[in-house]
Formats: sequence, structure tokens, C-alpha cells
Amino acid sequence: MLSLEHIEVSIGGSQILRGVSFHVPPGSVTCLMGRNGVGKTTTLRTITGLLKHSRGNVLLDGVNISKLPPEERARAGIGYVPQGREIFPHLSVEENLHIGCVARGKSAATGLERVFALFPILKEFLPRKGGMLSGGQQQQLAIGRALLTNPKLLILDEPTEGIQPNVIDQIGDTIRLLRKEGAMSILLVEQYLDFAKELADRFCIMDRGTIVSSGTIEELSESIIQRHLVM
Ligand SMILES: Nc1ncnc2c1ncn2[C@@H]1O[C@H](COP(=O)(O)OP(=O)(O)OP(=O)(O)O)[C@@H](O)[C@H]1O
Ligand SMILES: [Mg+2]
Repeated sequence: MLSLEHIEVSIGGSQILRGVSFHVPPGSVTCLMGRNGVGKTTTLRTITGLLKHSRGNVLLDGVNISKLPPEERARAGIGYVPQGREIFPHLSVEENLHIGCVARGKSAATGLERVFALFPILKEFLPRKGGMLSGGQQQQLAIGRALLTNPKLLILDEPTEGIQPNVIDQIGDTIRLLRKEGAMSILLVEQYLDFAKELADRFCIMDRGTIVSSGTIEELSESIIQRHLVM
């Protein structure tokens, strides 16, 4: 589904990614893990095209998308829920959702009902300004907006960060449901280990700009956790 081949990225003269390679198999949930500042968000931004890489390739369904701008990658099927959510605080929930549809060039009606079924609170709060929602509700809005583009690959950057437990459960249920449906692949950055273990099929661990360990989630042993994840 998604393959990264030897990706290198520099920001302001310092190399942040030093040859990142990994693979997200079709219909799977792959969890990208690692301590703070190792390059997880930089990797996701490179996949979405928001950052340019100096070497290596990004392949989606075997097609090299390295040269495509972000909007074309979105149209090619990449949905992105950024770290910190990045909804539009001064636009209503409804307007925020519409932007998801516009990005893909589709009418809003299809898919909206599905998003409301997953996150009923969004339907209730349609006229409310995004900035008035709680952190968890904003996260649901950001995920809903990404789902409206009907992605082949859904990328989520720390969806549980700073969110209360009941909403974490709801987000977990959503990811589990999407995985069960098998229509999309999911790449999840997650520091909350239990959440990752419950949801993921595979893991990749980054350290200082490169992948240092990967495998099935069953292979994520205590010694790997101690070596690469514990602060
Ligand atoms: N715009 C930028 N300008 C300069 N340095 C940057 C920029 N973005 C990221 N970095 C640096 O790149 C490194 C990787 O950052 P990145 O945000 O990818 O890490 P991360 O693994 O997502 O961390 P976190 O777990 O805290 O979200 C860090 O050392 C960070 O300081
Ligand atoms: Mg990050």
C-alpha cells in the first residue's frame, strides 16, 4: 500500500531523517513509534508532501508519488490527521467538515452520515465553532474531516495526545472498525503503548531519524520497549 524507501529529509541544514524505509501493508494498522523528537511527525509530513525529501522514494500502491504536491497526494487517497488536530477554530463544525470534501472534489452528503454515526457529537454541534469544542471533540472532527476524503491510507499523528479516556476509547473503536472493514490502511503515530498494542497489526520504531526496529505487534517485546521507547 505505502512504501518508504531510504527517505532523507533536512530542515534548515540539519538532517532529520536519515534513510527511513518501511512498508504499510494493505488493510493493516501500522504503528510508528519512538521517543520525542526522533522524526515521527517529519516522516508523516514527508508522506503527505508537506515536506520535501532530498533522497529516497514514497510509493503509494506501487506508484512513485515523491514529486506530487500535497493536494494531489490527498486526491490520490492519503488522508491526514495532524498532530495537535489543526482544525479551523473560527469555522463551524459543518464548515470544517465541508473542507474535507472540497479537498477531494466530492459532494459533502456522501460520507457525512457515516461520520455522524462514528462521532454523533459532531452532528449535534454542527453550527458550533471548531475552537469551542473540547480537545477530544476537535480530534473527532479532524478524523471525521479526513474520513470524508474517503482515503485509501489514513495517517493519524498521536490522536490520543491530551485527550480524556472516554474519547480515547471512542477513537480506538473507530480505528478498530475501519480496520475490520479493511477498506483502508492506517498509519498511526502513538506513544500510548497500550493503545498501540490493542489496535496495531505491525509496529516500526524510530530513533534519531531512522527505523531501528519493526515487526508484527506480537513481536514488540519488553526488551525492545526498554531499549527504544522507555524515556
Ligand atoms: N520546522 C522545523 N525546524 C527545525 N527543526 C525541526 C522542525 N520540525 C522538526 N524539527 C526537528 O526535527 C526533529 C524531529 O521532529 P519531529 O517533530 O518529527 O519529531 P517527533 O518524533 O514527531 O516528536 P514528538 O514525539 O515530540 O511529536 C526534532 O529534533 C525537531 O526539533
Ligand atoms: Mg510528532
